[in-house]
Amino acid sequence: MNEKLAIQGGPKAKTTPNYPMYPGGLEIGEEEKKQVMEVLDRKYLFRYYGPECHPSKVKEFENRFAQKVGSKYALAVNSCTSALISALVACGVGPGDEVIVNGYTFFASCASIVGAKAIPVIAEADETLTIDPDDIEKKITPSTKALLVVHMRGVPCDMDRIMAIAQKNNLKVIEDCAQALGGTYKGKYLGTIGDCGCYSFQYHKIITAGEGGMVVTNDERLYDRCMGYHDTAACWRPDRFAEQRYEGELFCGVNFRMSELTGAVLLAQFGKLDKLLSLMRRNQKRILDQIKDTKGIRVRPVNDAGGDVGICLMFYLDNKVKVQPFAEALKAEGVNAAGVFNSGIPDWHIYAHWKHVLEKKTPTSEGCPWTCPYHKGMPVEYSPDMNPNTLEYLSRVIHLDIPSQLTLEDCDMIAKGINKVAAVLA
Ligand SMILES: Cc1ncc(COP(=O)(O)O)c(C=O)c1O
Repeated sequence: MNEKLAIQGGPKAKTTPNYPMYPGGLEIGEEEKKQVMEVLDRKYLFRYYGPECHPSKVKEFENRFAQKVGSKYALAVNSCTSALISALVACGVGPGDEVIVNGYTFFASCASIVGAKAIPVIAEADETLTIDPDDIEKKITPSTKALLVVHMRGVPCDMDRIMAIAQKNNLKVIEDCAQALGGTYKGKYLGTIGDCGCYSFQYHKIITAGEGGMVVTNDERLYDRCMGYHDTAACWRPDRFAEQRYEGELFCGVNFRMSELTGAVLLAQFGKLDKLLSLMRRNQKRILDQIKDTKGIRVRPVNDAGGDVGICLMFYLDNKVKVQPFAEALKAEGVNAAGVFNSGIPDWHIYAHWKHVLEKKTPTSEGCPWTCPYHKGMPVEYSPDMNPNTLEYLSRVIHLDIPSQLTLEDCDMIAKGINKVAAVLA
């Protein structure tokens, strides 16, 4: 006999409060205050100079970050969008180029391609909800210059296939790790497998300073070009006004620099990363172990399960019509869960809702990058139903955040809620 669901008047499976998903943000405390006060006391707020010389917090953060993920270079910037644009520009992406990106990602991944003056080509996700390598192969044209692959909702893309495709077709690979800091693929940190890796420290991310980003690379030229793009004042150069040291070094950049205040907060937050990751992974495993064999649900497969950062849990139902009642029943049980795709509710993580891209909206009327005269071949076209597999997967999936603050008791109650609802509604 199934237990009576809370939505039908039965007892709730989860009786403890839910936490919002700000893993690092909720842990801001004395360490962050101490770091920030040091910056203020020294009046050293700009990484390159101040009234007195001091070691830069941003530089220290870059050094620690590069050492942790095992990349030769790390450049801190003011957002992941800035990091992605800098990486694309550094890789030589520009007018006339196409860049292939996953249709399930925050819109910023796609917008960064337009920001680099190139044309986004939107590919299918596979059942892991990361980019489908088979569809990448179908979408490559002579204009394709790079792949922007997103380790979406904390799990690695199929990097072996992606790197093989890139090598065969002479493409650059930029990894968007905004949601996957600390994740790995076959023992390597995400962000260090392609040409550049980009990270976000926006408030919703694992560690945060409200805003912030990072680019990592092992290639000195790419690092130099990211530096050149991120600091139009060229403060980073050994001699700001010197001749270029190699052809292509000097060009007009923008200002994506990270402030010392941000660097200070992130230094303190970075010290908490391993603990946050181990708590989220512990919590995710605790729930997964109790639902992995539950009838009627299929847990999202992962390319390398050991590399998942554990920010969430996603599982499929066999029919999209079951998703809304299932999510509502879970909410009534006290479990914070939701369906992902509903064509009626706009969500900028799903390409079908990227109206500005689908309609090729631009701030000026000439319509670049889509009308760029340097673009050769067939025009890139979009429609809301062009990636049916992505929409089919997303329409059947249920998503739960896994805050690091959950206790094991919370996790057991969440698993109980899922099992209770699945027994009746899956
Ligand atoms: C996958 C992905 N890429 C890029 C971004 C953009 O990050 P930022 O807000 O730091 O520019 C986000 C932010 O939510 C994201 O989730």
